[in-house]
Amino acid sequence: MTNSITIALSKGRILKETLPLLKDAGIEPVDDIEKSRKLVFPTTHPDVRLLIIRATDVPTYVQYGGADMGVTGKDVLMEHGGEGLYEPLDLNIARCRLMTAGPVGQVSPKGRLRVATKFVNLARQYYASQGRQADIIKLYGAMELAPILNLADEIVDIVDTGNTLRANGLEPRELIDHISTRLVVNRASMKMKHQQLHPVIEQMGAAVARRC
Ligand code: ATP
Ligand code: PRP
Repeated sequence: MTNSITIALSKGRILKETLPLLKDAGIEPVDDIEKSRKLVFPTTHPDVRLLIIRATDVPTYVQYGGADMGVTGKDVLMEHGGEGLYEPLDLNIARCRLMTAGPVGQVSPKGRLRVATKFVNLARQYYASQGRQADIIKLYGAMELAPILNLADEIVDIVDTGNTLRANGLEPRELIDHISTRLVVNRASMKMKHQQLHPVIEQMGAAVARRC
């Protein structure tokens, strides 16, 4: 294990809000991440490099030590299960809710439910915790289509303004959890690289606190 720190960032929505926090913590990529096709970026901090990957891959890279730290949504972490990870900090960005939703004016049918989602593990756990039998149908996007086309009775998805649900004739039903972006750390790195990681976690915590 080298002394440098690798931080895996989620590209897309979370990245835009993560970069200013990292900057406040003294870590800035030397290239323009949004314009580059590179996946690994050195930073102004001599010991820190950034990986830019899909949000859903961040827990996997951190779990297996490909990155020491990562930034991703609580929804993604719940779906992954969190094995091998510490979650020391809520970055308080990309806030939204994880909800069940179904066609406007219809109640969730009694008996066995058909549920479309990309969060299959999370949905299975949720319906089991409610004592409800559910067949979970895995989709990779556009979950809102599934009830309209009678593929499913309801969906489990992210809701923020509710515009996407409304635009597709759906409405929220039950709140599963409040979601925000979290900093995660590989458990072995936390022990082996504590001296390097601790100040970065502290500085990011201070950057979050200054924004609240
Ligand atoms: P992937 O890159 O794997 O397809 P994705 O399309 O879900 O993932 P984003 O849409 O960038 O990626 O969302 C990343 C994270 O941002 C989600 O995991 C969630 O925590 C949060 N998020 C998603 N949608 C919203 C929203 N509408 N408002 C606020 N936060 C959101
Ligand atoms: C996310 C999520 C919902 C939508 C919710 O999709 O999957 O579809 O946001 O936000 P709202 O309640 O404010 O409408 P996103 O916009 O990231 O597109 P995606 O489906 O490509 O991930």
